Amino acid sequence: MMDLFSDIEQQERDEILQLRRELEEANRLYYVENAPTLSDRDFDEKMHRLQELEKAYPEMASKTSPTQHVGSDLGGSKFETVAHRYPMLSLGNTYNKAEIEDWLSHLPSGVEIVCELKYDGLSISLWYEHGHLTRALTRGDGVQGDDVLRNILTISSIASLQTIAPIGMMRQVPDFLELRGEVLLPWANFERLNREREAAEEPLFANPRNAASGTLKLLDPEEVRRRGLITYLYYLLGDNLPETTHYERLQLARDWGFPISDAVRVCRSVDEVMDFINFWDTERRNLPVATDGIVLKVNNLQQQKSLGYTAKSPRWAIAYKFPAEKQLTTLRKITFQVGRTGVVTPVANLDPVQLSGTMVQRATLHNEDFVRQLNICEGDHVWVEKGGEIIPKIIGKVDDAQCTIHDDFHFIETCPECGTKLVRVEGEAAWRCPNSATCPPQLKGKLEHFVSRKAMNIDGLGAETIDLLFEQGLLHDIADIYALQKDDIATQEGFGDKSAEKILAGIEASKQVPWARVLFALGIRMVGETTAKKIARRFTSIDSLQWATLEELTAIEDVGEQIAQNVMAYFLDEHNLDILLRLRAAGVQLIAAPEDAINAEQQSVLAGKTIVISGTFAKHSRDEYKDMIEQYGGRNAGSVSSKTSFILAGENMGPEKRKKAESLGIPLMNEDDFLTMLTEN
Ligand code: IVH
Repeated sequence: MMDLFSDIEQQERDEILQLRRELEEANRLYYVENAPTLSDRDFDEKMHRLQELEKAYPEMASKTSPTQHVGSDLGGSKFETVAHRYPMLSLGNTYNKAEIEDWLSHLPSGVEIVCELKYDGLSISLWYEHGHLTRALTRGDGVQGDDVLRNILTISSIASLQTIAPIGMMRQVPDFLELRGEVLLPWANFERLNREREAAEEPLFANPRNAASGTLKLLDPEEVRRRGLITYLYYLLGDNLPETTHYERLQLARDWGFPISDAVRVCRSVDEVMDFINFWDTERRNLPVATDGIVLKVNNLQQQKSLGYTAKSPRWAIAYKFPAEKQLTTLRKITFQVGRTGVVTPVANLDPVQLSGTMVQRATLHNEDFVRQLNICEGDHVWVEKGGEIIPKIIGKVDDAQCTIHDDFHFIETCPECGTKLVRVEGEAAWRCPNSATCPPQLKGKLEHFVSRKAMNIDGLGAETIDLLFEQGLLHDIADIYALQKDDIATQEGFGDKSAEKILAGIEASKQVPWARVLFALGIRMVGETTAKKIARRFTSIDSLQWATLEELTAIEDVGEQIAQNVMAYFLDEHNLDILLRLRAAGVQLIAAPEDAINAEQQSVLAGKTIVISGTFAKHSRDEYKDMIEQYGGRNAGSVSSKTSFILAGENMGPEKRKKAESLGIPLMNEDDFLTMLTEN
């Protein structure tokens, strides 16, 4: 018996460590990468389980456990990192109404509860010092955040309140005032952004929260403005504020003109709280922004104070989270869709159901393995869910469901669009149509990518126009764009001389688009915007790139073997060479501008070299040497390994590094030789 117990104990201890690792990684993907892999629900469940286990094994407590700190969104050194005046905590949460009742029952009797919507964006803290907006900090790790003020100023409701004056009975504005709230990307803007990203073959944002978070961390405020963030504020802190209730403070902010939601209610009973929850559980579907629950806050500030805080969240507040909506429906038919890159995706065609405010008829089935795992077939009754992710998904089937059409799922063998035999790339889950030269959706996809904003940015030539011109046989490949005549367009339905001229002007202007973007526009598989830039910096014309070797290509930062091979394969295809000839004849920039070419020459000096800096220097600081290495195309690494090309060695080089370098036979170079090498090249 004893043995058995300690076995279970050991298992649970291991589980604690495992859960901590999983939750830390999930936090990083959510807050830093803006690309979550766990659903909120799964994350919350793991977190609750970890909390439970840590309670059962208090000797395993750890200050670094994810139960003890909030996830961090601090993102390198792009923004100034500033310590919060008051820590930014998170909220305890539950999906269970009984737990809400339980929480309420432990509060002092007669307590007032303010119910608010839980907006699903990212939190922001605005600082007003002597009435002037001075900072806008992200939550960061709760203790310090990134100052993203210049991006916040693209939100008009805040931009118009950069200074505030005393109001009402107030003699002067507080010396320090902090307003907290949520930054959001409204559904409509989110959907527009994802449409643009799809056309540009950029990864889509899973939901508006990730899109808002990615947007707030951009370095270009104009792009932030274009995307259209908004905010709601829900919490005030600072000197000389009303001392009685939270609600009163919200009212003060509202009087100042700050964006405060109208969906706020002071409740005095469990029933009133439940009414609020039930009302908004359905009504929230009509809101322009995403919400994921209700926040309950003790209204009286004195009572808040005596309830206090845990390490991670206030005891005076709790969140009720809405369950993801799911519906049962019938899977009518599995069809197959060919994407721009030739990937064939199975699609579930469903009997229409209403889900989170929209009618759902189709759901992606991702790939062959996914369908097999679900073990579904046509005629089954399936559960569809629309949670944080935007694309509805099938989460399972009713166990006693009958397959009425066939009992074994067959993935198609030939492309439904062009009939070519499909191939399955080793190591990938996807089947792909290899006919990139004439398969219609792939051709249209290439055209759409070519004209998209981040590529050739041809105004007026959107997906629909491309579709039309493609169907008319006027466009087959990207070079055909430069052969379009005014009449080709003007005679189409819905077009006239004016719109045709506008498109032709856009095409003409695209001949000035620089070489790096042209390279991106060509649509070589896996060569995204940044990779194209890096390749174009090293190879300053299409002609030099055409003869690049695998070694030369993989020496470029971020270019691995796969990408290098895709680039080389591109030039082995006759059809592509023909396109390049016609683009060149049209006057498209297939060569870098002279100043870019000089930079490129610089970049080749240390291309492919990994350099470790050690010791102290006389002529430049370590940081300056770091910058130089990058400027000349090298890579700076922190520790010596067999991959190190040489060590830039100053005075008092660390003995450990010296020993390691000697044992690996890695050469040392002093700063004079290093500088000579750069200038002579
Ligand atoms: S109050 C100390 N009110 O939810 C209390 N938070 O999971 C601080 N949130 O970090 C939060 N709507 O980003 C509060 N009406 C609301 C909210 C709200 C959304 C977010 C906030 C917070 C997170 C906690």
